[in-house]
Amino acid sequence: KAYIKEVEAFEAKTEAEIEEFRIKYLGKKGLLNQYFSEFKNVANEEKKEFGQAINQWKNAAQDRVNALKDAVESTVDDNGKYGDLSRPGEPIEIGARHPISLVKNRIIEVFSNIGFNVSDGPEIEDDWHNFTALNFTEHHPARDMQDTFFVEKDPDVVLRTHTSGVQVRYMENNKPPIRTISPGRVYRNEAISARSHCFFHQVEGLYVDKGVSFADLKQTLQYFTTEMFGKSKIRLRPSYFPFTEPSAEVDVYWGLETETDYRMTKGTGWLEIMGCGMVDPNVLKNSGIDPEEYSGFAFGMGIDRIALLLHQIPDIRMLSENDVRFLEQFKSVL
Ligand code: PHE
Repeated sequence: KAYIKEVEAFEAKTEAEIEEFRIKYLGKKGLLNQYFSEFKNVANEEKKEFGQAINQWKNAAQDRVNALKDAVESTVDDNGKYGDLSRPGEPIEIGARHPISLVKNRIIEVFSNIGFNVSDGPEIEDDWHNFTALNFTEHHPARDMQDTFFVEKDPDVVLRTHTSGVQVRYMENNKPPIRTISPGRVYRNEAISARSHCFFHQVEGLYVDKGVSFADLKQTLQYFTTEMFGKSKIRLRPSYFPFTEPSAEVDVYWGLETETDYRMTKGTGWLEIMGCGMVDPNVLKNSGIDPEEYSGFAFGMGIDRIALLLHQIPDIRMLSENDVRFLEQFKSVL
């Protein structure tokens, strides 16, 4: 009994001490085997008691070894070394923000400075919010402009092809004045290449109030591009979207000249960065806003494209490959 108490009370902090203890009691030439070998010399009437006592002792020793090992192993660190509690801590690896998030956060910052809030909506969208409310009639050819992934047919459920649906939702639930931007992931059934992917990210903006004019739109875009890209020229080219009238594409001058901002080196001249226009009265009506009373402008841009430009990333696929050698290059970028 005293021997059992002794092993039960044994303490050890390192694996070596535990091993020493194990060899002493449970090893081939250990104490217990020595007692077992005495067994044949024990008188027959005492054999039973002797055997039981030795077995209890052995189990107690084995239990103690297991318990101590568990305790030590729970302090094992990643390198497989055992816990020395006085060792200095391992530095924690801090990740980097993804370039998409960097650019998205910057866009949000620039627009929130002039009173825009951020709105959000589902990536799986119904036909009404992705198309119909936005003035795409049923057989509108523009539905083919956006190579849609269909989730369900009749009634259609799609992976949203743009975040314009969020703006419809916002107008359905809020009264003007409305100033909101909707960042988010969108999907299009396009061939994957260095320049385009089957999913990418957009920020779309919407401003609805009394007397909003095209001049307000242009001024807002000039403000945005200057904040985003530095001193920059923009130009608007007439374009077409079902949900805006008139509509335009916005090009920014991507420095070929020396005077341009450092963020725009490696310039290639005029570069298209977004679509925009005055919200079509039908879209306002569809979203529960009276077009006689209110007008608005909207714009939409691709975050990925802008991230490629600003960070001189040669291939859009790098944005979704999760290669840490790529991602950790953004550690120093805020
Ligand atoms: N929704 C358009 C697109 O995805 C972008 C856009 C938004 C154009 C708002 C004009 C106005 O291509």
